[in-house]
Amino acid sequence: MSQEVKKSGRLVRAPENFLAKDDVKSPALMRRKFLAASVSTAATSMAALGLATSSRTAHAAVGAGDPNILNLPAHSTGLGMPVAANAYGMPSQYEKGLQRRESPGLTRVSAASVAFTPLQGTFGIITPSGLHFERHHQGWWDIDPSKHRLMVMGMVKNPKVYTMDDIMRLPSVSRIHFIECGANTAMEWGNVAVPTVQYSHGMISCSEFTGVPLSVLLDDCGIDRKQARFVLAEGADGSSMTRTIPLDRALDDVIVAYGMNGEMLRPENGYPLRLVVPGIQGVSWVKWLRRIEVGDQKWATKDEAIHYVDLMPDGMHRQYTGIQEAKSVITTPSGGQTLLDKGFYNISGLAWSGRGKVKRVDVSVDGGRNWRQARLEGPILTKAFTRFNIDWVWDGSPAVLQSRVQDETGYVQPKINQLRAVRGTRSIYHQNAIQSWKVAENGEVSNVQVY
Ligand code: MTE
Repeated sequence: MSQEVKKSGRLVRAPENFLAKDDVKSPALMRRKFLAASVSTAATSMAALGLATSSRTAHAAVGAGDPNILNLPAHSTGLGMPVAANAYGMPSQYEKGLQRRESPGLTRVSAASVAFTPLQGTFGIITPSGLHFERHHQGWWDIDPSKHRLMVMGMVKNPKVYTMDDIMRLPSVSRIHFIECGANTAMEWGNVAVPTVQYSHGMISCSEFTGVPLSVLLDDCGIDRKQARFVLAEGADGSSMTRTIPLDRALDDVIVAYGMNGEMLRPENGYPLRLVVPGIQGVSWVKWLRRIEVGDQKWATKDEAIHYVDLMPDGMHRQYTGIQEAKSVITTPSGGQTLLDKGFYNISGLAWSGRGKVKRVDVSVDGGRNWRQARLEGPILTKAFTRFNIDWVWDGSPAVLQSRVQDETGYVQPKINQLRAVRGTRSIYHQNAIQSWKVAENGEVSNVQVY
């Protein structure tokens, strides 16, 4: 038995908490503190596990009179908790470190900020609703659904105002899709900036959304198909989030959603109504949706003419670049984690494409010199997370882990220098380069950029 255990490597989870708000003074300081904290937290948790100096001794103890086996615990001899002790179930107390977290210093106030999904600790392709990333421009609200209204107007024969009851009576669909903020991985354009996958890639989540296809509402209002070219979506929060969406997309797979992962949307994610715009950057997924206007030209609102534009190397800005191109990342082992032994590891990660399905994912453990094809776990859905896994035996020497996705259009995820050659380094949005995690000889995994 112990022989079998010894063969497989073990891993210290990524440290969960990196920084206090007051610690953050500048991006450079933030980075130094991040790195220092991740090292010391890893050391502390190893010490707590009795693994700091002698991980192999810990292995040997297993099976040799392990008190966890020999002494019957209370849960094997006593009466457990009654049903409905938690009327709404919560994760185990032992999992409370797994949380969405704000990156201190990224924005001035938390009402206009981001809380990142801990991708290093989630499995499969669905993000638990409580860990779904949050991005608000002016804070979130828990809006009374009985008072919420959705207006559809503009180039339609019969402008209408819908109550939530009206909307929930209409034919519905349920679809699994990722939502990725266009600014995901934005801090890494110029250089390595953050230590873990939560902060480098955690402005993305994948959920099952339920609602009414926008095409149903537009038909219900008698859209003028001869003149109409675009729709405008507007939110009910103070940010007046407004985004133009081309009509062909609006009539294709866009959903006016009230459900997420089998229940009503969470308030942070737009309760009671949000737009789901598959494959398109998160900003177009307007939350607390209150108005759809149909028109014949783009509105050039503040959230699309000034913000959410891409600064190119020649000093010009690209506008209306909504699609999230194919991207992938290894979520374990990943930055901040520590490999405790040589031996077998399951490299696991996520891949997605705003243009359709993931076709294949290749993984390199030597910084991109050699690649092996990873196993794609089903289901493989359009514009959704695809989970990939691949076996790896770590021989204890330094390694650089990378994943590279190809989507069904044939598009291949670029290296960071390929992306910079076209986009420069001063952009914010749509950074989809290959991510590299360096495994040092002592097992520590860190964020690096490899060209
Ligand atoms: N809608 C409104 N009304 N207000 C907002 O601040 N933020 C947008 C979008 N929709 C926003 C909004 C941005 S920038 C993103 S990335 C997504 O919502 C984030 O959705 P989430 O908070 O559910 O993850």
